[in-house]
Amino acid sequence: MNNKVYIISGTNRQQAVSLQVAKVYQQEFKALGVEAEIIDLRQLPADYLFSGLYENAGKSETTIDFRKKMKEASKFVFVIAEYNGSFPGVLKAFIDGLEFPDSFTNKKCALAGLSAGEQGAVLAMSHLTDILNYCGAHVLAKKPKLASIGANMKEGVITNERYMKHIKLQVRQLIEF
Ligand SMILES: Cc1cc2nc3c(=O)[nH]c(=O)nc-3n(C[C@H](O)[C@H](O)[C@H](O)COP(=O)(O)O)c2cc1C
Repeated sequence: MNNKVYIISGTNRQQAVSLQVAKVYQQEFKALGVEAEIIDLRQLPADYLFSGLYENAGKSETTIDFRKKMKEASKFVFVIAEYNGSFPGVLKAFIDGLEFPDSFTNKKCALAGLSAGEQGAVLAMSHLTDILNYCGAHVLAKKPKLASIGANMKEGVITNERYMKHIKLQVRQLIEF
């Protein structure tokens, strides 16, 4: 098992704010002396959905690396954007391409949701919690809802103090989880 925390930036959208939020989490872990690495779904192969799953799962260099890291890790943070009331489809495809059940059984996960609108991906986090629980992972109860992210983040910095308070608390909780 690997002691590093893996932070999954849960979309492959090029300009994703999710990746900026993932970097905020990485800094918070670093400040507490915990190594954290970002898994950026933009790095999935362009043909992942049609040529990288099922009998081809884990055959490209990137997916071999991602699958190995996900299997060896014991703790994850999933940063998930709200897309059409749920989490991005590419994240489900990423999960579908991992080794089952070893990637998640008895592992610890924390979720953070962000949205342009007012829901803060609350349903998206609920959907992902169901899936992770099904796959055998434990999900931390504290799940920050980073709603109206455009108005609460500037140049990679979360400007909303309340949001940062929740993130810092969640990071400490995941370390102790
Ligand atoms: C395909 C798609 C669907 C989206 N659906 C929603 C939605 O249902 N509710 C919402 O508040 N924002 C929605 N958004 C906006 C995202 O939440 C917003 O882009 C936010 O910055 C987080 O996503 P990002 O990491 O891709 O930047 C959507 C964006 C995309 C690309």
